Amino acid sequence: MSDTLSIIRPDDWHLHLRDGPALRAVVGDSAKQFARAVIMPNLKPPVTTVALALAYRDRITTALSEAGVAPGAFTPLMTLYLTDNTSADEIDRAHESGAVVAVKLYPAGATTNSDAGVSDLLGCCGAVIERMQRVGMPLLIHGEVADPAVDVFDREAVFIERVMKPLRKAYPELRVVFEHLTTKDGVEYVRDAQGPVAATITAQHLLYNRNAIFQGGVRPHWYCLPILKREVHRQALVEAATGDSPRFFLGTDSAPHARGLKENACGCAGCYTALHAMELYTTAFDRAGRLDRLEAFASLRGPDFYRLPRNTTRVTLRREAYGIPHEVPYGDDTLVPLAAGESLGWRLA
Ligand code: DOR
Ligand code: ZN
Repeated sequence: MSDTLSIIRPDDWHLHLRDGPALRAVVGDSAKQFARAVIMPNLKPPVTTVALALAYRDRITTALSEAGVAPGAFTPLMTLYLTDNTSADEIDRAHESGAVVAVKLYPAGATTNSDAGVSDLLGCCGAVIERMQRVGMPLLIHGEVADPAVDVFDREAVFIERVMKPLRKAYPELRVVFEHLTTKDGVEYVRDAQGPVAATITAQHLLYNRNAIFQGGVRPHWYCLPILKREVHRQALVEAATGDSPRFFLGTDSAPHARGLKENACGCAGCYTALHAMELYTTAFDRAGRLDRLEAFASLRGPDFYRLPRNTTRVTLRREAYGIPHEVPYGDDTLVPLAAGESLGWRLA
């Protein structure tokens, strides 16, 4: 059994960097782990236009430089936040910008800062989706219905029936990424779908089932959306990530919230994993006996789907004990990484 693993430098195809002091606190962590990342637009106010996305990219570039990251060492790939009022012309501007790689769909009310999201996708956004299909701009989908009558553990499976299937029937050539997939239903849908569909998978959904949220008491740092599911779903995700299909690739969904907002009577959704993302993913692949598939998942399939060049430099992972810090600084506050205080068996060199 080899104790080192060399892979092409990975990318993170789903990342929350926040803004201001929070951005400055976390951006260096992602730059240590990844060469590029798709940056989520759910700021307050949301990043709804190319002008806002370019201004946000400038703030990220400044924060990278303040964090001591060499120019060009980490590339933020920007996204637009889809609303009921997004215009088709904005899609053309995004396509021509060279900076915006995709549009993100948050169903209104589904998650953090989704109030400005879409109320009725096919009813309100037909012209925009038509334009995206035409120019080849991917739609990144938070695939959960927000209907309060639907059980929180069923929201992804119901989304497939109510939204994903009608959407893809109406726009079969639309490029779609089913973000942070969490269920066997989702795995089967993406694996078997016709047309340009892919999915990202987080480290927490590969490593944990929903018992983790309740082990010995309520553990808010294991709470994210979509929520962790049953073991059968975790197993299906591991099979997908480590399997042959090119459609499944890495997206951490690292979503920092200050400690006090997580350890709260109404704790925020999101796991902070940017700090130790590759250590977490490598642990999951090692447990599945599929370290040989880590590079495809982390470094090859993502750029292939996004039609971007693969990275050319390499990174090394070593089999060695790595203690996850109990907390890290977060502006004036602190941030608790996923599985804080626990030990992992791999370390990114
Ligand atoms: O857990 C989550 N946190 N899921 C999301 O969809 C949003 C994210 C955030 O921005 O905090
Ligand atoms: Zn997210």
